[in-house]
Amino acid sequence: MTISEWVERSSKYIDRLDAEVILTHYLQAHDRSYLVAHDDEELPDNIQQACDTMLAARMRGKPLAYILGYKEFYGRRFIVTPEVLIPRPETEDIIDLAKAAKPKNIVDVGTGSGCIAITLALELPNAEITAIDISDTALSVAQKNAKQLGAKIDFRKNNLVEGLALPEKPLIIANLPYVDKTWNWLDKNSLSYEPQLALYAQQEGLELIYRLIDQLDNPCRLLLEADPSQHEQIKKYAKLHGFSFRKSRNFILSFTKNKTAHANIKA
Ligand SMILES: C[S@@+](CC[C@H](N)C(=O)[O-])C[C@H]1O[C@@H](n2cnc3c(N)ncnc32)[C@H](O)[C@@H]1O
Repeated sequence: MTISEWVERSSKYIDRLDAEVILTHYLQAHDRSYLVAHDDEELPDNIQQACDTMLAARMRGKPLAYILGYKEFYGRRFIVTPEVLIPRPETEDIIDLAKAAKPKNIVDVGTGSGCIAITLALELPNAEITAIDISDTALSVAQKNAKQLGAKIDFRKNNLVEGLALPEKPLIIANLPYVDKTWNWLDKNSLSYEPQLALYAQQEGLELIYRLIDQLDNPCRLLLEADPSQHEQIKKYAKLHGFSFRKSRNFILSFTKNKTAHANIKA
């Protein structure tokens, strides 16, 4: 079977782009233009078999990132395994907002693959970065990513920021689980491959975000990711806890807090 025949046949069952990415991966080609330039070449049997196995996994709904073992985020390639959430394009807005804030200290809560913390370590080499997750397996994937990309991060296993001595006026970043199990518009088959601990939260998806807000007593800046349908509720909750809303961009909300405001609310 030739390259173009394999792509044509596979595109009947999965997205053509996914089929081309699978083949590019196995042919160790730099990009998909290789497939066009060599479209009438015969595929070696071992490569066709390997590609067919990936095709079958994709047909069952397994996300391409888990099939390939990596995903691009903000222009860099991150290892992903089923122990970590697949980095999403909407999370990239956090990077732009964090860079604009020019922080000295960053704390990434719920680091998963480490895509946010590592990207910021490389984009902002003077910032001190701590990355937290409650999952040992996620932390080990994040550590591998930090090593292969050359990022210096202080990784901690912790429940949100409970009991941690945070640096002065840090930028706290959190893409915590915010999916409500009752949302029926989501592709549940594809999500079933991702860690449940990384996706779902109680209280209409807001439990962990609320708990983090509760834990942030001292002055800080806060960047949160959540579904836009949740933003108004989060803004109300954050305001009650002394945070001022700054701006939002797509899935991301930005807040600041100073101690005085919090003390007033408590009184
Ligand atoms: C939505 S994923 C985000 C992963 C990564 N930051 C990203 O943007 O792709 C949420 C992460 O939060 C972690 N997590 C869940 N509950 C946590 C908790 N109580 N404390 C710390 N991390 C938690 C999960 O293990 C998961 O890695």
